[in-house]
Amino acid sequence: MAIYFNESTRQFILRTDSSSYQMQIGKFGYLFHLYYGKRVEEMDLSYLLREVGRAFSGNPYEAGMDRNFSLDVLPQEYSTFGNGDYRTSALMVKNVDGSMETDLRYQSHRIYKGKEKLKGLPATYGEETEVETLVITLEDKVNGLQVDLSYSVFEKYDAIIRSTKLINTSEQSLTLERALTMCMDYSCPDKMDIITFYGRHAMERQLERTPLRHGKISVGSVRGCSSHHYNPMVILCNHDTGEDYGACYGFSFVYSGNFLAEVELDQSEQVRFVMGIADENFSFSLKKGESFQTPEVIGIYSSEGFHKLSSCYHHLYRKHLIRGKYRDIRRPILINNWEATYFDFDDEKLIGIAKEASKLGVELFVMDDGWFGKRNDDLTGLGDWIVNTEKIKCGLSKLCESINHLGMKFGIWFEPEMVNEDSDLYRAHPDWCLKTPSRMGNRSRYQFVLDMSRKEVIDYLYERIYAILKSANIEYVKWDMNRHLANVYSRTLPPERQGEVYHRYVLGLYELLERIITEFPDILLEGCSGGGGRFDAGMLYYTPQIWCSDNTDAIDRLKIQYGTSFGYPVNTMGAHVSACPNHQNGRITPLPTRGVVAMAGTFGYELDISKMTEEEKGIVKEQIETFKSYADLIAQGEYYRLSNAMEENVFYVAWEFVKEDKTEALLSYVQIHPQTNLLYVRIRWKGLDPRKNYKVEKEVYSGEVLMNIGYLLPVLQGDYRSFQIHIQEQA
Ligand code: GLA
Repeated sequence: MAIYFNESTRQFILRTDSSSYQMQIGKFGYLFHLYYGKRVEEMDLSYLLREVGRAFSGNPYEAGMDRNFSLDVLPQEYSTFGNGDYRTSALMVKNVDGSMETDLRYQSHRIYKGKEKLKGLPATYGEETEVETLVITLEDKVNGLQVDLSYSVFEKYDAIIRSTKLINTSEQSLTLERALTMCMDYSCPDKMDIITFYGRHAMERQLERTPLRHGKISVGSVRGCSSHHYNPMVILCNHDTGEDYGACYGFSFVYSGNFLAEVELDQSEQVRFVMGIADENFSFSLKKGESFQTPEVIGIYSSEGFHKLSSCYHHLYRKHLIRGKYRDIRRPILINNWEATYFDFDDEKLIGIAKEASKLGVELFVMDDGWFGKRNDDLTGLGDWIVNTEKIKCGLSKLCESINHLGMKFGIWFEPEMVNEDSDLYRAHPDWCLKTPSRMGNRSRYQFVLDMSRKEVIDYLYERIYAILKSANIEYVKWDMNRHLANVYSRTLPPERQGEVYHRYVLGLYELLERIITEFPDILLEGCSGGGGRFDAGMLYYTPQIWCSDNTDAIDRLKIQYGTSFGYPVNTMGAHVSACPNHQNGRITPLPTRGVVAMAGTFGYELDISKMTEEEKGIVKEQIETFKSYADLIAQGEYYRLSNAMEENVFYVAWEFVKEDKTEALLSYVQIHPQTNLLYVRIRWKGLDPRKNYKVEKEVYSGEVLMNIGYLLPVLQGDYRSFQIHIQEQA
């Protein structure tokens, strides 16, 4: 049993294979947090609720003259603004009289097997045998707000998934001004760090680790999507936590819009962490009987360092977040024409590239931006999802047939959420984009953002995408989003509800995606937003893979993919081999190294194969065969980081995949700087069976030796050289 309520202590006990989470209905019906950490046997933990009087930390009226009972000091499960807790709060409500106070008390709870869907939102899923859920209902008797805190426990993955539903049970309206998903108070004695993943376009998810200090540290997005700049996945950990030891807590937001992740170290040396939809320009009005469902946060605890934490995320996402046919089967190796042609292509040129690619074993051809409307550059055409027959002279269906004749699948690019001023769509419906009245708006990449909160916009996009997908044998869609939201104002909502637009935009996007995958369940979707600008667990529910970055340089990718791997499985990361000098930074790297790095992802190509030499084509053919033979090991195996890609002057980056039964492993190594008078590198493998013997090239080593003593790597000379070593159990 993963969830249990102890009637006598009034404590809720949630347990996964390796973690425990405990809370208590305390004095006056307040819900207090007791413990989250390494699994312990059940015990009354109420001794942790230390009632300490602190001046300037007031006391609820019911506490009478007791100055020691303060909401500003006690660890709370879902903190609210305005009732004497001055720390960062999860909930802020504007009442009909203008007051900002909410005061929540326990009402009831229910425990059930399984996990309910979240209406209109992405969410983890599981059978009754795989997940169990607790819903605790709190209530404010004065303003009539009911708060359902939901905790779903996937024992096997050490995951506790939280979401919150806010229901107005009163006769009057309420306005949510801040409605975060979760709050977590730690009263642990350890010094803690926070790890965040920051970045910019073409340099996403750079890991940064900082010790907590008194006050608040936060990351988030107000860009309308999760963004390149901060990922909605953060880790709290002890100072000394590393890959293989120490406590760490991951929190990943299953949402693709604005977010806030904030940690506060307070006057009592307690840590509070909150996560949810950002409250900047957020408000949501709830009339009688209406409710607001927050997106969910996936919390995972590991007492064995970051590897275990990442591993739980990887396995959970592969089985309980990603959906559809491509959840379990190998994704096709693709070639995308973007870096090969940019906008300058026609059907013949595309077929030329596809022909060469098919000879080398590529399985899917993706036609990127530029096939529709009058789109010959990025000034025009977005919104006009009609095939440009000046470029695709043979028509889409024939083009697709020609590609299919080569033995390849055909895929296509869309950027549905956007519109160019120079488009028929904009000329017909200038009011369909987000724009503040009487202002000119903000262009970005010469485009505006469609108001995805409007039904007619979603219906139009669905009809256009449906028509294109029905017109040819299309088996893959790349779903892009190439600017951020500004001038956020919807013409269909009254002034007092403009704070709902950001969230309604995301709900509109999810609805459109859901309609498309329901109608076309066999199409593989790849998410994208100028590369990895919307790389989040929310999108993974609809798109099993996401283009990791517009930066295809193998050396920069080492850091980008390293950071991404902390929270997301390798087989969700779009990764391609591209041409050199690299188009983003001009670097020249050997073709084999580009292959090794792209194989730590979905694997594909993004270059003009017809311009390659015979020797290069030979290398590509070999890479494809290699990838095919290791594809399952890479996609389903256990992934280990063997070095820290973010270390200053990092000399090499290495990682490893191990098959579940430990009979096989693949090590990849990229050397960043050539070394003169080199010192040997001895690398320790991970995750092998110490008792098994493994054949490593021509020799045999025990797992024990490979993991504890290590393997001497070959000496490499030259820039950015790399290798892979595949080992197998030797009977
Ligand atoms: C974005 C994507 C690229 C490509 C271009 C097309 O930048 O990340 O891969 O599709 O758009 O305009």
